[in-house]
Amino acid sequence: MRVLLTGSTGWLGRHLAPRLAALGHEVTGLDVAPGPHTQVIGSVASRTTVDRVFADHSIESVIHAGALHKPDISRFPAQAFIDTNVTGTLNLLEAAVAAGHDRFVMTSTTSLMISQAIRDEVSDHAIWLDEAHAPLQPRNIYGVTKLAAENLCRQMQGETGMGVIVLRTSRFFPEDDDTHAPPPADNLKANEFLHRRLTVEDAADAHIAALEKAPEIGFGVYIASAPTPFQRSDCAGLKRDAAAVIRHYFPEADALYAARGWILPDTIGRVYDASRTEQDLGFRPATDFGSVLSALKTGAPLPFQHDSGYVSPSTLGAALVSEDCA
Ligand SMILES: NC(=O)c1ccc[n+]([C@@H]2O[C@H](COP(=O)([O-])OP(=O)(O)OC[C@H]3O[C@@H](n4cnc5c(N)ncnc54)[C@H](O)[C@@H]3O)[C@@H](O)[C@H]2O)c1
Repeated sequence: MRVLLTGSTGWLGRHLAPRLAALGHEVTGLDVAPGPHTQVIGSVASRTTVDRVFADHSIESVIHAGALHKPDISRFPAQAFIDTNVTGTLNLLEAAVAAGHDRFVMTSTTSLMISQAIRDEVSDHAIWLDEAHAPLQPRNIYGVTKLAAENLCRQMQGETGMGVIVLRTSRFFPEDDDTHAPPPADNLKANEFLHRRLTVEDAADAHIAALEKAPEIGFGVYIASAPTPFQRSDCAGLKRDAAAVIRHYFPEADALYAARGWILPDTIGRVYDASRTEQDLGFRPATDFGSVLSALKTGAPLPFQHDSGYVSPSTLGAALVSEDCA
């Protein structure tokens, strides 16, 4: 299939493009910043650019991963988020419908399910988050614009019947957490595989599964995150003493962590449940917390990437992004 991949220079895009190509797809990358998988430099916020790419490359389906996201909040005004994340999604949806596509995949974020109260962990138990979680009260312009984009996808699918899948992915970024609080980055990322992270390779494969299933599913919003070992009944314990709950499922975790100087989390405030994605899309991430412990046990490299110096290419394409809101 001739696939338009937006955000092809970004962290997800640079992993997804070669995987799509390996499956025989002809990939056209569109991004505001140059990169080895980007054939067209331009913004999704420009309908002219989108129409030109569709015509020049005879596009047959879209994976829309390009966006301004959380780290961009300090770099771009709110209007740029609306232009890129909302107008850009509308442009792509309308172009896909006009071209008669039967499928469309949009990358969204679990972060739009995190209200200020969930973020502040005011509850006496961990919050269990699946696709049915409501009300949705995103706490920043990133979440607000991603939710608006999701709703455009829902509306467009309802009106036209084009298959549309929205993937709410949890964390897969390689850089350090923006809180820069302890524990160190590798330890924190490892902990997050219990409840709120997946590898970028698994995030890419989730998109491929979604692309395959979209026409048959119609419309679906799915969480993509490493399978959690926890149950809903663990929520009180996770908030009170997460390490005890983890020891229950992984008795060897303490010793393996101690050997590396790592620490288990004291408390966990939220858990993403991606089981519906496995049921409906037939996709289960290859890497989970058990994989991390196996690597610690055998001395194999950690099964996730860490790059403290990673900065989104959107900064390189800032002139084009800002042009949209001029
Ligand atoms: N990184 C994570 O942990 C994470 C978590 C949840 C969801 N997501 C979502 O995954 C997707 C990919 O994120 P990423 O981690 O690869 O981020 P990234 O910043 O590395 O990549 C995003 C890409 O989009 C491009 N872009 C920005 N504005 C654009 C525009 N107007 N037109 C065309 N391209 C534009 C950027 O230049 C960049 O290359 C995004 O939709 C993001 O919201 C990321």
